Amino acid sequence: MTPPHFITTQDWGIDEIRVLIDRARSLRESPVQHLLKNRTIALVFFNPSLRTRASFEVGAFQLGAHAVVLEPGKGAWEMAFNDGEVMDGEAEEHVREGARVLSEYCDLIAVRRFPLFADWSIDRQDHVIKAFARHASVPVINMETITHPCQELAHAMALGDRLGDLRGKKYVLTWTYHPKPLNTAVANSAAMIATRMGMDVTLLCPDERYALDERYMNTAQKNAQASGGSFTMSHDIDSAYDGAHAVYAKSWGSLAFYGDWEREKPVRDANKHFIVDETKMARTSDAVFGHCLPARRNVKATDAVFDSPRSMVIEEAANRLHVQKALMATLLGAQGEIR
Ligand code: CP
Repeated sequence: MTPPHFITTQDWGIDEIRVLIDRARSLRESPVQHLLKNRTIALVFFNPSLRTRASFEVGAFQLGAHAVVLEPGKGAWEMAFNDGEVMDGEAEEHVREGARVLSEYCDLIAVRRFPLFADWSIDRQDHVIKAFARHASVPVINMETITHPCQELAHAMALGDRLGDLRGKKYVLTWTYHPKPLNTAVANSAAMIATRMGMDVTLLCPDERYALDERYMNTAQKNAQASGGSFTMSHDIDSAYDGAHAVYAKSWGSLAFYGDWEREKPVRDANKHFIVDETKMARTSDAVFGHCLPARRNVKATDAVFDSPRSMVIEEAANRLHVQKALMATLLGAQGEIR
């Protein structure tokens, strides 16, 4: 994995992350800067998107670059990833060629590939983005796999804009109900970046079966030790919300039932009361409310919470544009020129 990649924020130093966010703020002030004139980026989407696709395409345009969008299995060949694979299924292309060919055309490759939701022991290896990084000769950007590092940058930027110094601020990452089991990526990412920023982080979820993968629980603990923050898991809604400065909502499927979603469904259905509402927010210290979007209104949070002046969901989504421009420019060595 030789070129500088952006697979996880944990590969980047905290000072490097802060510089990215500072550059994003500069780009927000002066959005059109042709730092990447005539450069190209491949955006490879194995899954749908609104924000990620639009913000990368617009961001590339504003930097003077061109984005090529590819959707394997839908206009681009289905792709195989395993070494030694006998490709007698649907895939016509192997990542060994796909990543190398895209590297011939493009200066960056960004990839979105969600887990397959059948076997967490396989999904947790994050092998698709790692295969791209291994075979590409240009930097690879994670547009969401089992983590969502671009969202982390946008989230940290929004939190900083609203709350200033984040150290010691109480942050609640709350599980919420959703009719389908969703990816743990944003929850993993939120736990990592909030602890990185020195916040006192509470992971609020119905019970231990909704704990994150031990890799991310342990990383959050280590981050907190290094930053002077804290990381704890709680199943008590009232005490988790008490005095909070930030509430971040996300739904995810229980790893304890991974791939056995019919068995998980009654557990999930019994916890609809985790919805973020005005009563819970009233316990906080006038907390900001965040969500990565898309979000189901009145399922994850009430209209009143989404429409409150303390909601920063639109700012965070807007920041995706700014942080990804800073990231693209930095990965291609144009960072010194940002005004
Ligand atoms: N938050 C986010 O990544 O949005 P999209 O899925 O619409 O890209």
